[in-house]
Amino acid sequence: MIYSRIAGTGSYLPARIVTNDELASRLDTSDQWVRERTGIAQRHIADDSQACSDLALEASRRAMEAAGVSAAELDLIVVATSTPDFIFPSTACILQAKLGAKNGAAFDIQAVCSGFVYALATADKFIRSGQYRCALVVGSEVFSRILDWNDRGTCVLFGDGAGAVVLRAGDAPGIHSSILRADGSYADILSVPGNVSHGKITGSPFLQMVGNQVFKFAVKVLDEVAREALSAAGAEISDIDWLIPHQANVRILEATSKKLGIPAEKVVLTVDHHGNTSAASVPLALDEYVRAGKIKPGHRLLMEGVGGGFTWGAVYATL
Ligand code: ACO
Repeated sequence: MIYSRIAGTGSYLPARIVTNDELASRLDTSDQWVRERTGIAQRHIADDSQACSDLALEASRRAMEAAGVSAAELDLIVVATSTPDFIFPSTACILQAKLGAKNGAAFDIQAVCSGFVYALATADKFIRSGQYRCALVVGSEVFSRILDWNDRGTCVLFGDGAGAVVLRAGDAPGIHSSILRADGSYADILSVPGNVSHGKITGSPFLQMVGNQVFKFAVKVLDEVAREALSAAGAEISDIDWLIPHQANVRILEATSKKLGIPAEKVVLTVDHHGNTSAASVPLALDEYVRAGKIKPGHRLLMEGVGGGFTWGAVYATL
């Protein structure tokens, strides 16, 4: 049997930090409101000169260095993003060129905040099938570009960043199970309902959200899909060393872990200092805890995402 295994992790946050107080200086909000409702204290915002592929490149280089993998060895590159450099070519192809990689396939996945989990599950299937042996899986976002910075109900929640993992073929898991789900009938509660057509923007280019409905939906499906992924691997909740949920906000994380019966000390939490970075949030959180020496080889991880679409999913893996 062929399995895929995470061989290295990396991440990147742009240098510029925007605190809640800075937002409160130009919006009708406060540090106290944002912290109490979301747990977020600050977010990183990309410089205008940085595109999604630039953030992805930094995170990828760090993951490849950690894995000891060169660009020539990569035969699959999957980038999860909702804020690509262009309509086309894909950000994965742009990243491939920036890395100087030439072999295999490169494509983007669009599943918003579940994007990394979708990308990881997809790359795992390709490796398990024997088609590819060394994949770079990236979540990268410049969400700051699709926010209305005058809308206090949404702009305080998000930030920019990137995270990456290298997946290698091996003879033991690695990834035990993955479950992906979607329900397009919930499209209206979280969307950027705009496009470019005939040289003009049609609809709205800014993120729109019905916050309380998103909150309830996220907690419900993160609970369900965690149980499905564990069941598919023949594992129990008590087997998990670390729950790595999509870093949307602390209240969603707390409600999800409470519902699952997972103690707070086993729940990875990074949203406080980078906000919701959409597809980047899970690999960013994973890399931060790996580099801090908290997540160690042999630990069992349950990674979960939920986002616009609606999409959601979970991957259960041994590091
Ligand atoms: N500062 C101050 N006041 C605010 C702000 C703000 N930034 N934003 C909204 N308010 C006000 C509202 O206008 C409202 O005022 P009103 O009562 O006078 O009308 C009041 O605060 C309460 O607003 P609610 O929307 O009811 O507040 P709620 O407690 O639901 O918190 C929040 C809003 C934080 C968005 C919450 O619904 C939430 O966390 N939802 C989940 C959304 C999320 O995480 N989305 C991320 C993308 S989806 C994903 O990643 C899965």
